[in-house]
Amino acid sequence: MSEPRNKLDIEVTVNGRRHAATVEARTSLGEFLREALGYTGTHLACEHGVCGACTVRLDGKAVRSCLMLAVQADGAEIVTVEGLAGADGTFHPVQQAMRDNFALQCGFCTPGVAITLATLYDGDTRPTVEQMELAMSGHICRCTGYQGIRRAIRQLAGEAPASADHAGEQA
Ligand code: FES
Ligand code: FES
Repeated sequence: MSEPRNKLDIEVTVNGRRHAATVEARTSLGEFLREALGYTGTHLACEHGVCGACTVRLDGKAVRSCLMLAVQADGAEIVTVEGLAGADGTFHPVQQAMRDNFALQCGFCTPGVAITLATLYDGDTRPTVEQMELAMSGHICRCTGYQGIRRAIRQLAGEAPASADHAGEQA
């Protein structure tokens, strides 16, 4: 009987760049992206699929990279937060809307939030406020009180952002 293989060879494309690597079968995709490939914009927090901080785009879908094994991503096209801006540094519309509306504070949750919103935004039809807010139910932010994120969502949906005076807002 052959021994089980603890390491496997995989290839992934991350932000348009091809990577070949040998990974342990138990390594999560998030850990692989951060530790082996250096895409540290992908944050790991709960590692239980709850907080959304580790979200990346994989073959067009927003997925939690803490819940996937790296070997399951073999052959996949992945976009991390480092791949959202244009080659010239121009922000993705989601990044711009988040900046315009103070939709981040410490920034820990931000890569996952940005990837989820950008994946909806880059789809075939412009997402509605309701669709984007529903998608945010999969993300925990401990800082912003969420109102900045909701304003960014309204801007992305083409609705006028709220007043610039945001002092004292609560979640
Ligand atoms: S680290 Fe993956 S959902 Fe929290
Ligand atoms: S900005 Fe700090 S956790 Fe969201």
